[in-house]
Amino acid sequence: MFYIQKRNDFLSRLSPIITFVRKRSYNKASLIFALMLIGGMFIKTFAQAGGDVMHNKPGMTLEETFNLYVQTVQNSDLEGLFSTITDDEHFIFLTAGGKLIDSRQGYYEFHREWFRETDWEMPVEIVDIHKGNNCGYVTAIFYFRSKLPDGGRYLLDSYFTLIFRKSDDMWKVIADICTPIVRQFEDADSNIKYNFEQNYLFDIMKTRRTVRKFKPASVPEEHIRKILNAARYAPTAGNQQPWTFLVVQDIDRISRLKSEALEWYLESYKKYSNRDEKNLDSVRANLVSTLEDVLSAPVYVAVLVDTKVEHPDYIIHDGALAAGQLMIAARALGYGTGFYTTYFPEDKMKGFFNIPENYKLICFTPVGIPDEWPEMPEKKNIDDLIVYEKFD
Ligand SMILES: Cc1cc2nc3c(=O)[nH]c(=O)nc-3n(C[C@H](O)[C@H](O)[C@H](O)COP(=O)(O)O)c2cc1C
Repeated sequence: MFYIQKRNDFLSRLSPIITFVRKRSYNKASLIFALMLIGGMFIKTFAQAGGDVMHNKPGMTLEETFNLYVQTVQNSDLEGLFSTITDDEHFIFLTAGGKLIDSRQGYYEFHREWFRETDWEMPVEIVDIHKGNNCGYVTAIFYFRSKLPDGGRYLLDSYFTLIFRKSDDMWKVIADICTPIVRQFEDADSNIKYNFEQNYLFDIMKTRRTVRKFKPASVPEEHIRKILNAARYAPTAGNQQPWTFLVVQDIDRISRLKSEALEWYLESYKKYSNRDEKNLDSVRANLVSTLEDVLSAPVYVAVLVDTKVEHPDYIIHDGALAAGQLMIAARALGYGTGFYTTYFPEDKMKGFFNIPENYKLICFTPVGIPDEWPEMPEKKNIDDLIVYEKFD
């Protein structure tokens, strides 16, 4: 990642190009292109020193237009920025805060307000560029950092995809879709300085949430392996590592589990509740909808531990620690998870998945893009959780 400060100097203009070169350092053509662009930037910089505003113009490539977009944002140059935006009043802007702004005027006002603020910086890293004849997109990540009036800092990292259309030989942005990764207010009263990686880790831990409804988007195999690989570094008693991660992705199997889990729950409901059986229909209806949601993820992992190990008394601890790391790793990749137990009783799950007798089920966790990230449930105050040295 290459950080660009919000400065109106040559380096800040050059930086998106440097980023571009970095991301595509294996591609000779791109390197030559970037060098040409750097040459162009020299000319542009000196032209601007003479008072010219940088503007979009016919003949500029998609990459050049994207870089101009980024530079004008970093320079709070509203006029330059809007030379890269469609003249059409129809515009789609999904903000990193989840707000939909659906007009060019709205996009303009958003940026006018924002550019009035001065104490911020926003390095940008390009992830992907895709160009067709008349349409194209660029996906990048921005790392927005600003100061709050109370002295705290506001951090917001987000993917953003700019969709471009070309007409009259000019590329113009017709949509801007932000997908936030991490957002936080740093503690205002903290005297400790944390670096980006530390802040990122703390934020991931804080923003992990139990998710109970998912989008159908699939999870790449590489991500599943990455997440499980992180889980296996958890500590274990005597380093026994008693885990097996059962990965379930087959839609038909998940669908069958849905019906089975419904019956399992109703069975125990009837057995253990003294409630009137008249309620059964409404319990069933609620359950169908709950299971529809909690089983809407594309991937599930049953975290299992082997009872036939050297320290069987500790396998529950070992399993829970791995599940915790799994959830943090998944959050780092943008996925929601959950430590599901209630609807998935161990004995039934073992039968359903043909799990050998010697295993114990720790939890059944989904991995998927949340339908939406739930609000953080109320958490206890840190001061109520710490006792120093000994109890009174
Ligand atoms: C041992 C354990 C069992 C849990 N069982 C369930 C469960 O069966 N279903 C569920 O939706 N969440 C379950 N959870 C998740 C908790 O409800 C959740 O962690 C808690 O409400 C706090 O929310 P958060 O994870 O978003 O911080 C369980 C969590 C733990 C640690």
